[in-house]
Amino acid sequence: MSQLEIRNLHVSIEDKEILKGLTLTINQGEIHAIMGPNGTGKSTLAYTLMGHPNYTVTAGEVIFKGQSLLELEPDERSRTGIFLAFQYPVAIPGVTVANFLRSAINSRRRAANAEDKGMPIPEFRKMLKEKMDMLKMDHAFAGRYLNDGFSGGEKKRAEILQMATLKPEIAILDETDSGLDIDALRIVSEGVNALSGPELGVLVITHYQRLLNYIKPHHVHVMMGGRIVESGGPELALHLEEHGYDWIREKIEE
Ligand SMILES: Nc1ncnc2c1ncn2[C@@H]1O[C@H](COP(=O)(O)OP(=O)(O)OP(=O)(O)O)[C@@H](O)[C@H]1O
Ligand SMILES: [Mg+2]
Repeated sequence: MSQLEIRNLHVSIEDKEILKGLTLTINQGEIHAIMGPNGTGKSTLAYTLMGHPNYTVTAGEVIFKGQSLLELEPDERSRTGIFLAFQYPVAIPGVTVANFLRSAINSRRRAANAEDKGMPIPEFRKMLKEKMDMLKMDHAFAGRYLNDGFSGGEKKRAEILQMATLKPEIAILDETDSGLDIDALRIVSEGVNALSGPELGVLVITHYQRLLNYIKPHHVHVMMGGRIVESGGPELALHLEEHGYDWIREKIEE
């Protein structure tokens, strides 16, 4: 079973410490949610895991499948089977969704076996159509340039499509609910649910308990001041919806 273990992670941006000793373990098969006020470092965690150059790890470690993730380049990280979906995905004009996905799949296959010739195109097309149908996406989407002129909801669906085709072992979704209309929220959630199971561990970063009505987390964590300050089951999210974060702030101050 694959495991992502984040131990005492400290991260700074331009000498300002944002993550201050974050510890969290995600196992394949588990769904975790992180909630927390704006600016507490949730996206910082996602960017750090990806290997974004602006984020400097000053202490702690991240172990994925027994390997130190922090020592790997961003592309090597994704080939280990970790997937990150971003709050603000970048557009890649000139590269279609289909080409992007095919090269991502093939680079993962080659990482596993240097002799691999890549997924045959008919097989890839069939697989892509199935995944798009599962996510109720128009097939024309595959021919568009990645994220170029995509609406907020389309970007999120494109991310879930990436996740569906890349079949990661651990997926981290940052604010996958932002900018989604109610139908899209449901479709994305159904996509995540359809993919989740013993093979996939998920970390969703969200502000809304609403999302957690669709994606049922096993564990809910509250992040504040760059650390996980409270963990519980799905009931924690409901409690936050009703009572906000003040009770946790008071608890920390005590
Ligand atoms: N390039 C940067 N330079 C300086 N500070 C930064 C930079 N990038 C992020 N920060 C700061 O780091 C802190 C954490 O930001 P982060 O995006 O991780 O928060 P978040 O928990 O994801 O918030 P939100 O809920 O609003 O998405 C914020 O105070 C932010 O202003
Ligand atoms: Mg954020």
